[in-house]
Amino acid sequence: MSTSLLGRPEFKDLLVKVAGLDNDKGDERLKHIVQRVAEHICSVIEEFDVSPSEFWSAMAYLTELGQANEVGLLVPGLGIETFLDMRMDEAERKAGLEGGTPRTIEGPLYIAGAPLSKGEARLDQDPEQGEVLFMQGVVTDKTGKPIAGAVVDVWHANTKGGYSFFDPSQSQYNLRRRIETDAEGRYRFRSILPAGYACPPNGSTQKLLDAIGRHGHRPAHIHFFVTAPNYRKLTTQINIDGDEYLHDDFAFATRDELIPPVARHTDADAINAKGLNEPFSEITFNFVLHREADALPDTIVERPHAEAA
Ligand SMILES: [Fe+2]
Repeated sequence: MSTSLLGRPEFKDLLVKVAGLDNDKGDERLKHIVQRVAEHICSVIEEFDVSPSEFWSAMAYLTELGQANEVGLLVPGLGIETFLDMRMDEAERKAGLEGGTPRTIEGPLYIAGAPLSKGEARLDQDPEQGEVLFMQGVVTDKTGKPIAGAVVDVWHANTKGGYSFFDPSQSQYNLRRRIETDAEGRYRFRSILPAGYACPPNGSTQKLLDAIGRHGHRPAHIHFFVTAPNYRKLTTQINIDGDEYLHDDFAFATRDELIPPVARHTDADAINAKGLNEPFSEITFNFVLHREADALPDTIVERPHAEAA
């Protein structure tokens, strides 16, 4: 008889029953996944001699995490959302897809249905003061051919690190827009430079991070979905260069190719030409999409989103 409980026939029998593998109903793949999840949990309990009290404190934590609606925050914090990206990258690499704008995590704060405009948009609709940011670029295929009619769906935080819908001080869809590229594949927008932000300091995610000696900060960034018919959806972000957490993102989303230079304009003529009174920043960033192809994992990820009111 094995000295480990996990190797004993009665434990194996228990897992078979737990996962419903001894019946012919239900979903076969799910049964095997449930079996493995249960097995792994028991294995961790064995390996670390987890006491019943420790186990139940972990269950209480998961309950609290769900009730606080922070599952979408802990998942990137544990690197699992990045792992999903790594798997998608690997599947594309094996299928011969190289180059293109790298993907990075979506995060939990997307809201569908932002106002749609052609060619250009202004994102900052609230009176908040912040350094003006102009961002522009072209959406192309891998050969550099512009893609007209692509949709650049952009969302970012304000100067305090808050997102509209989640931050009640902001109006609906503030700092959220969809921009359809023009005939030359171009998009451009005016906004304000976002600030980085951190997990809620008293929240469940931060509680775990504290317990393992980690911070919960994200560097300043701007999120994008870029879509076009017959192309693979791109989910990505750009980082604002110079942020102290640029290479220390708690959500592991920074990628070197997604840190475009930020041009800061302090010249009076440049400021006047934009009709401004203060220095401003400018970012140029082109998005390169892959054509859709058979036998590749779907880049359209089904996940629950908060709904616009
Ligand atoms: Fe974000």
